Amino acid sequence: MSKGLNKAHIIVVGNEKGGSGKSTTAVHIAVSLMKRDFKIAIVDLDARQKSLARYLENRLNYADQHDLQLSIPDVYVLGRSMEGDVDNMIYEDTKNFTELVDELHKESDFILIDCPGNDSNLARLAHSVADTLITPINDSFIDLDLLANVNPDTYKVEKLSLYSEMVWDARKHRAMTDRGTIDWIVMRNRTSALDAKNKRRVHEALKELQKRVSFRYVQGLGERVVYRELFPKGLTLVDFRDTEEKVTMSHIAARQEIRRLMSDLQLPGWEEEKLEPLESKIA
Ligand SMILES: Nc1ncnc2c1ncn2[C@@H]1O[C@H](COP(=O)(O)OP(=O)(O)OP(=O)(O)O)[C@@H](O)[C@H]1O
Ligand SMILES: [Mg+2]
Repeated sequence: MSKGLNKAHIIVVGNEKGGSGKSTTAVHIAVSLMKRDFKIAIVDLDARQKSLARYLENRLNYADQHDLQLSIPDVYVLGRSMEGDVDNMIYEDTKNFTELVDELHKESDFILIDCPGNDSNLARLAHSVADTLITPINDSFIDLDLLANVNPDTYKVEKLSLYSEMVWDARKHRAMTDRGTIDWIVMRNRTSALDAKNKRRVHEALKELQKRVSFRYVQGLGERVVYRELFPKGLTLVDFRDTEEKVTMSHIAARQEIRRLMSDLQLPGWEEEKLEPLESKIA
């Protein structure tokens, strides 16, 4: 292990809601950590879409084609068992997952697991070994509904929903197996400068919910076109120093969000950065 942490720290990015920004968040965290010389292994549990693996494949190709020195983590895609029998399926998933994670523990500072946008046995296993669980949610009550039911008049939280129950089970499992705890972080994604009323209501509901469900609610990322544009090149906002890409004010604001997110995560060994300004590269 490059940084001498005692044991790999497992970061799981999960939310049963599809398209909430899990893979986008995961790639930015991975590259941020690699920039600090942490050794990262990535596990993509979405063997159908493989978005994160594809992102990093694009990164490799782009670095080759443009002769760039980009850090590229090892990626392992783990598909779910195809066993027809449920008991056999659970057995096989558990065996494959445990073997892979045990192996990665030996050589990594961080293992970063990107979950698919639905409930699966592999995703449950991942949640139950998480040291840090990150749940990006889009800024709407539809996304919030996966965490809790909210009163339509008062916007008060009435009842926990399926995903929160699942995390609750994972926490119990974790406490029983190694007395570990899961630091659950809910981050907002794609917050927009428009629609201030909705933004405030979601904010209030999350503030109340964090007390009931024990997660840390952090600000997360704004709605920015740049997050969508980076995929074909496999780049992240953290890379602009190492590329010929021109930097815009929007890039700088987005980078700032990523830096704040990394700081909010409170990962072991992470220290606040002191960066040179990027203004010299502004387009
Ligand atoms: N902050 C953002 N601003 C603008 N677009 C974003 C932002 N975050 C994610 N996106 C876009 O939203 C879409 C879904 O993002 P992403 O693939 O990261 O979500 P996901 O949760 O991993 O999805 P899935 O559940 O299908 O795995 C992508 O097109 C991505 O580029
Ligand atoms: Mg994804």
